[in-house]
Amino acid sequence: MAQLEANDLAQAVIDRMADSPNPRFKEVMTALVKHAHAFVQEVELTGEEWMNAIQFLTATGKMCDDKRQEFILLSDTLGISMLVVAIEQAKGMKAQRTGSPQQGGATPATEATVQGPFFWEGAPELPLGSDLRGSAPGEPSFYSGVVTDVRGKPVPGCLLEVWSGDGDGIYDMQRGDDAEMMLRARLRTDAEGRYHFWSIKPTFYPVPDDGPVGDMLRHMGRHPNRPGHIHLMLKHPGHQTLTTHLFVSDSPYLDSDAVFGVRNSLVVDFTRHPAGTAPDGRVLDKPYYTARYDFRLVLAAEHAAA
Ligand code: BEZ
Ligand code: FE
Repeated sequence: MAQLEANDLAQAVIDRMADSPNPRFKEVMTALVKHAHAFVQEVELTGEEWMNAIQFLTATGKMCDDKRQEFILLSDTLGISMLVVAIEQAKGMKAQRTGSPQQGGATPATEATVQGPFFWEGAPELPLGSDLRGSAPGEPSFYSGVVTDVRGKPVPGCLLEVWSGDGDGIYDMQRGDDAEMMLRARLRTDAEGRYHFWSIKPTFYPVPDDGPVGDMLRHMGRHPNRPGHIHLMLKHPGHQTLTTHLFVSDSPYLDSDAVFGVRNSLVVDFTRHPAGTAPDGRVLDKPYYTARYDFRLVLAAEHAAA
C-alpha cells in the first residue's frame, strides 16, 4: 500500500473527487483543500490548536437559531462577507463597461455592502413620505433621493426595503422573542424614480459579541463596533438587486467597521436643521436632519451577461 506523506495529502484528497458530478463544486473544493492544507502546513498547527478550532466552530453552530446567525457574523468579522460582496459587485462593474455603446456612457453603480443579520422579511409596505420612527428613540431624519440605472434613467416603482437600529443602536430583533417590527418599511419610488421617508439618524453600535465571535474579537484585540448606518435593499425587475447602507459621515468607527463594510461612496452628510418646516412640509418641534442620496442600479441583463 502506498503510504501518503504530509505533502501528498492534499493531492490525495483532490484525486478522490475525480468522479464528482458538479464541476463548480469540484473547483471550489479543490481550492479549499489546497489552501486549508497549505495553511495547516504554514502555521504548523498543533493538535491542541486544531481541537480549539473545532470547539470554537461547534460553539458557533450551537449559538445559531432563527434569530441569531453566528456563522454569518464570523464571516462578516473575518471580512469574507465583504469580499464576496466585492467580487459580485465587480461583475456588475464589468457588465457596465461591456454594455452596449448606443446606450450611452454609464456612471458607476452604487456600491453594495453586507446585508447583516437584521433583515426581517415582511416589513410593512408604506406610502412614500411615511415616518418609520413610531416610538423609537433617535433624532428625526428626512431621507430623500432618486433611483436611476447607471445611465441616469429613473427607475419608477423600485422597491426600497429600509431597516436600521434605533437611536441607541438597538435593532427591533434584539428586543426579545415577542419583539415587534420597528424602523423598517418597504417603499416604492414614484414615477420619476424619487423616494423620501422619515426615520432616525442612525448611531454606531456593537455587533452581537456575547458569543464565540465576540471571544474571537477580544482575542484579536478588536472592538465590535459598526459606524452609524441605515440599511437599504433596492429591488426592481430588470435591475440587479442592490443591498447597501448609507453611513453617517460624522459617526465614530468609520475607519474601523467591525465587518469591513464601509465604502467611501456610501458615506453621507446628515445636515442638521433647527425645529421648523421640513422639505416635505412637515413641521418639526425639535431639530432634525436631512440626508440625500441617489442610487444607481445595474441592469440585470448586463449583469447576467458579464
Ligand atoms: C448590521 O449592520 O446590522 C450587521 C452587519 C454585520 C454583522 C452584524 C450586524
Ligand atoms: Fe446594521
